[in-house]
Amino acid sequence: MSQDADRILPVRGDDEGGRGNRLQMFFNSLPGIFSSDMAIDLGTANTLVYVKGRGVILSEPSVVAVKKDLRRGPRVVAVGIDAKKMLGRTPDNIEAIRPMKDGVIADFEVTEVMLKHFIFRIHRRRFLVKPRIIICVPSGITQVEMKAVKDAAKSAGARQVYLVQEPIAAAVGANLPITEPRSSMIVDIGGGTTEVAVISMSDIVYSKSLRVAGDKIDNAIIRYLKQKYSLLIGERTAEMVKMSIGSAAPEKEERILEVKGRDLIAGIPKIVALRSGEVREAIAEPVQEILETVKVALEQTPPELASDIVDNGIVLTGGGSLLRNLDELIRRETGLPVVLADDPLSTVVMGSGKIFENFDVLKQVLIQ
Ligand SMILES: Nc1ncnc2c1ncn2[C@@H]1O[C@H](COP(=O)(O)OP(=O)(O)OP(=O)(O)O)[C@@H](O)[C@H]1O
Ligand SMILES: [Mg+2]
Repeated sequence: MSQDADRILPVRGDDEGGRGNRLQMFFNSLPGIFSSDMAIDLGTANTLVYVKGRGVILSEPSVVAVKKDLRRGPRVVAVGIDAKKMLGRTPDNIEAIRPMKDGVIADFEVTEVMLKHFIFRIHRRRFLVKPRIIICVPSGITQVEMKAVKDAAKSAGARQVYLVQEPIAAAVGANLPITEPRSSMIVDIGGGTTEVAVISMSDIVYSKSLRVAGDKIDNAIIRYLKQKYSLLIGERTAEMVKMSIGSAAPEKEERILEVKGRDLIAGIPKIVALRSGEVREAIAEPVQEILETVKVALEQTPPELASDIVDNGIVLTGGGSLLRNLDELIRRETGLPVVLADDPLSTVVMGSGKIFENFDVLKQVLIQ
């Protein structure tokens, strides 16, 4: 059980009461001295936090484990990595919840608890400070979904909430010249969404948000093993299979992995020796959808901007871009240079952090 999780409630208490409120107002009136501006990439799979002047200081799976207690009400027992370990292996009275789905909030209360937990963990000793927060959101987000993100961050303790579109944050994080009249193409493949965007002069010229990314790839592996081997596996095993032997295009050597699950018919544990070629076949459909979205984006980009992309290529970010040979497949199918960002899992949060570091210049990229 995580000790941090039990300390979530006092954060709410700090905001209440007259004296606390007056002190809070006093400290809030001194931004820059006491405030710790932070940027949060609230992702479907992972949440990352960048604190101004300090860099990325938190990176945890977006998972919360909740215990249903009939007498005391629901109680959080773990958040982040500890909660992810529980996915698919909790007893009946505990549920490991992923509150974000397809890039947006699916469970508001649990998202709020998770944010509060992470913010509190960072602000442990500076409990009076309410931070200004930049949160990254998918470019296809609706007004209602945007409000939900803002509300969750505010009730988790933010003094002011700014939103930035993920592809813009990714482009800033990948050091692309986004303020210039030159276009860049970013493809951010996360857990829930693939965002393809063409950016020029600090704005998105074209964008497409596809709700197909890492999670759908994991689901395709689960379905394949069920159909071909009557083998039932959980999300975590599917993700592990994808990371260890998954690929988007053929590799020189085939690899084999022993996958453990439950036989659907006999109901007992079973092991299957799975070949990397089979995994490629299993995930071909979602991979193809991602590829098609990139191709459509290229077709719909205005000609002047398209010629920049021919010169500068496509930049891949997000954990999903780490799928073996995905860059190779996109390169082959589009005929364009494709570059994998340095640290694809943290490009978006690094970009949002940079906005705080150069706020006067880069505040123009925030959603107004
Ligand atoms: N080596 C790898 N190979 C394949 N996939 C990977 C690898 N490492 C991470 N992933 C996948 O990347 C995804 C998580 O990426 P990321 O953290 O960028 O997503 P997110 O920002 O939480 O999601 P979203 O942006 O869609 O809300 C997961 O689906 C994970 O399985
Ligand atoms: Mg993301």
